[in-house]
Amino acid sequence: MIYIRNASQVVTVAGASSAPKTGDDMGQLHVIENGGVVTEGDTIVFVGSDEEAGQFVETHAASGEVTIIDAAGKLVTPGLIDPHTHIVFAGSREHELNMRLEGATYMDILNAGGGILSSTEKTREASEEQLAAETRKRLDRFLAYGVTTIEAKSGYGLRLEDELKQLRVAKVLNEEHPIDLVSTFMGAHAVPLEYKKDPDAYVKIVREQMIPAVAREQLAEYCDVFCEEGVFTPEQSRAVLETGLRWGLKPKIHADELVSYGGAELAAEIGAVSAEHLLNASAEGIRAMARQGVIAVLLPGTAFFLMTKPANARAMIQAGVPVALSTDRNPGSCPTESLPFIMNLACFSMRMTPAEVLTACTINAAHAIGRADRIGSLEAGKQADIVMFDAPNYMYLQYHYAVNLVDAVIKKGKPVILDGKRVQG
Ligand code: NIG
Ligand code: FE
Repeated sequence: MIYIRNASQVVTVAGASSAPKTGDDMGQLHVIENGGVVTEGDTIVFVGSDEEAGQFVETHAASGEVTIIDAAGKLVTPGLIDPHTHIVFAGSREHELNMRLEGATYMDILNAGGGILSSTEKTREASEEQLAAETRKRLDRFLAYGVTTIEAKSGYGLRLEDELKQLRVAKVLNEEHPIDLVSTFMGAHAVPLEYKKDPDAYVKIVREQMIPAVAREQLAEYCDVFCEEGVFTPEQSRAVLETGLRWGLKPKIHADELVSYGGAELAAEIGAVSAEHLLNASAEGIRAMARQGVIAVLLPGTAFFLMTKPANARAMIQAGVPVALSTDRNPGSCPTESLPFIMNLACFSMRMTPAEVLTACTINAAHAIGRADRIGSLEAGKQADIVMFDAPNYMYLQYHYAVNLVDAVIKKGKPVILDGKRVQG
């Protein structure tokens, strides 16, 4: 039994496990001042005032078997969840930075065979062991920032065996690393060079060979596509996602990132779980998403790194779209594992309130990856994924920005970070 005692604030984000939070409700965190949390095995067994928590421990714990974590002056929240990463890849792309500063756009670089295609070359060359080693380091960093679950997309293989290789690495790491990984197949991330002249032929391979193979090997739960001018058209995207659905892969979509392209509308039409990026989503697309309950996964770190205007989070929240936040961790458009810094950007570049930001990185993010029944809030019966920050309250997370305030992380009931340092796993 672990007793997290006397926290300055426990933010539970409770009561939204059946549907993501929308509108004003995104700002309702359920804060307990002087709170306590008790876990047993991998499960939360009590959340409440510290006095009640102390009584709970007294009546339920055999003496000597309680580990006490002193949370005086600290903030306790659910483990942070990142619902959109491209974490399994080889190499890095810092060489693109000067080109971009001189004016080359993201698409200029991709069209010249760089960008996603250069990461594809490196990922194809890498062995499963190499890929796992590189990815493990990224996971370790995520954990240090209080992230306990992530989504992981393929999409740097762009041919059957290498897409499977990426997904197998994610599966192995899910088993061996404290962080849980939820896999998404994204073979339609770019048109590989060898199909540049015939993108439809590549789409056919994605639909007829890759999706069935991924589904048969049970390597992914979701299917995603980069629906963007110059990458995959809305028609191609729809075809890929519909095939995915037939094979049991739930649809997600990279939508309206660089231009307004009907991605948000398409997400609503096909009943996607989430639409991601949405920097240039149309007003009608946003309304359609709200009507269908499609979650907007916003990635302000990508807008920051690509030096563009971020998504209109305020319009989405006002329209009733449930909003989640993510790093988009990838080698080209957002190479950071600091979800807390992304939270800072959401606050200062998209004007989301500190309360909305925390909802977006916990329960709404859990909904975006189909895990809200187990994680995303601190409630008795849920998995014990918990973060303690060296912060007196949740607003302080956005105030003292761009530093790592994580003091402790508990994953499935096991302390994995204590006093800011990795202790096991
Ligand atoms: O979500 N937009 C497409 N895919 C990634 C970037 C991948 C890359 O540049 O390697 C994204 O930003
Ligand atoms: Fe992405």
